[in-house]
Amino acid sequence: MPLSIVILAAGQGKRMKSDLPKVLQPLAGRPLLSHVLETAKSLDADAIHVVYGHGGDRVREQLKHEPVSWVLQAEQLGTGHAVAQAMPAIPDDHKVLILYGDVPLIRKDSLQKLLDGSSEKSLGLLTVILADPTGYGRIVRDNAGNVVRIVEQKDANTKERAINEGNSGLMAMPAGLLRKWLAALRNDNSQGEYYLTDVIVMAVREGLKIAAVVAPSETEVLGVNDKVQLAQLEGALRAQRAAELMLQGVTLADPARIDIRGNVTVGRDVFIDVNVVMVGDVALGDRVRIGPNNYLKDCRIDADTEIHPNCVVDRATIGPRNLIGPFARIRPESVLHEDVHIGNFVEVKKSDIGAGSKANHLTYLGDATVGRKVNVGAGTVTVNYDGVNKHRTEIGDGAFVGSGSMLVAPLKVGANANTGAGSTITKDAPEGKLTLARARQVTIDGWRRPEKKGS
Ligand code: UD1
Ligand code: CA
Repeated sequence: MPLSIVILAAGQGKRMKSDLPKVLQPLAGRPLLSHVLETAKSLDADAIHVVYGHGGDRVREQLKHEPVSWVLQAEQLGTGHAVAQAMPAIPDDHKVLILYGDVPLIRKDSLQKLLDGSSEKSLGLLTVILADPTGYGRIVRDNAGNVVRIVEQKDANTKERAINEGNSGLMAMPAGLLRKWLAALRNDNSQGEYYLTDVIVMAVREGLKIAAVVAPSETEVLGVNDKVQLAQLEGALRAQRAAELMLQGVTLADPARIDIRGNVTVGRDVFIDVNVVMVGDVALGDRVRIGPNNYLKDCRIDADTEIHPNCVVDRATIGPRNLIGPFARIRPESVLHEDVHIGNFVEVKKSDIGAGSKANHLTYLGDATVGRKVNVGAGTVTVNYDGVNKHRTEIGDGAFVGSGSMLVAPLKVGANANTGAGSTITKDAPEGKLTLARARQVTIDGWRRPEKKGS
């Protein structure tokens, strides 16, 4: 059966107390909805329909690149009503899988089981055993253990409220049957809503079996309603990702103090200290060591490189055996080749730094091409900006840039050239020579300090 997925995302999320629509609230740096979409996309569906409502324009704008069809639910009249909005676009011979935009950690495995449980003769329903089922619809089973209906918390009696098996809300069934059942829903319940959950009792009445799949963990089906739950999920995801890294051989100084907001790939024997935030795509080679308090975004760090504490690396490629930091900032489009040392308070931007080169203290290298085995002295600045345009600096292999050099670009420092400390270099410094551009030092003989008047 071809598959259509419907993701419910029209709810307002009042309890978030935020101007940002609930499904755009970030979890691990990405909107809740995009976590669900990622899993949905892995299922090979014919179509993914997202039912949106509150803050709809922002939701669509932010996720406009996603291959989904958007379905407006102008008024939120309940989960059943929400699904019904998507049905005109879904053929009868499809299987429909219903997901929630605010249940972000659902895994493909569980959804696959749900799909396997659904056929012309059965409906797949994902349930969950809860320590505290408050707020959830309860799964009511008969004496033989078959699911017979779902009762919402607000409509449940005391006995039903004591049931600890909850409805995750996620289900799968044939489109033709679902369409018929949705048309028959009524809203004569305590919330005055069209409950999707009422299709269960209809399915049972028609002789379908309810194939209840119990979720492997509570976390997987946890919905987000407020910032407390959002933080709980963030913690759960952090723990999960930290565990994945450790199972790949990474040593984490403290798994509770690492943040992974993207995809991290690792080699063998990587060590990561506390308070490291990794964003986007981060690749760490064999034996890479990341010191405490580092922020790594969309970068590649090759084997045996060590990032000392308190650095920012953003969209850069760092070769093998580098020593970076402490307190270094490697900015976008920087490429550092092997055995490079970038020390404290050094900023590198859009620069290519050759093998074995060093800039160890208080330096700005922007729009520069630095050759191999170059030594950049403390306090050097590539003066790359004239207020309008950016200009490049080229430093040849083996050059020695004296401390405090201002290299006013566009400029070339030749191979094996030296620039004198404190020079403001405005013209090319030729290869193999010492270039000085500073006032000569003079000492005034017979000079006397001024004295205070009247003393
Ligand atoms: C729903 C289930 C409940 C289940 C719980 C799990 C129903 C009637 N109840 O309850 O059995 O235990 O989820 O979290 O289905 N939405 C819309 N349009 C609407 C209403 C809701 O798109 O008109 C979306 C929401 O954005 C949300 C999802 O549907 O993503 C669930 O809605 P919510 O109001 O949170 O349902 P609950 O009352 O928690
Ligand atoms: Ca509700």
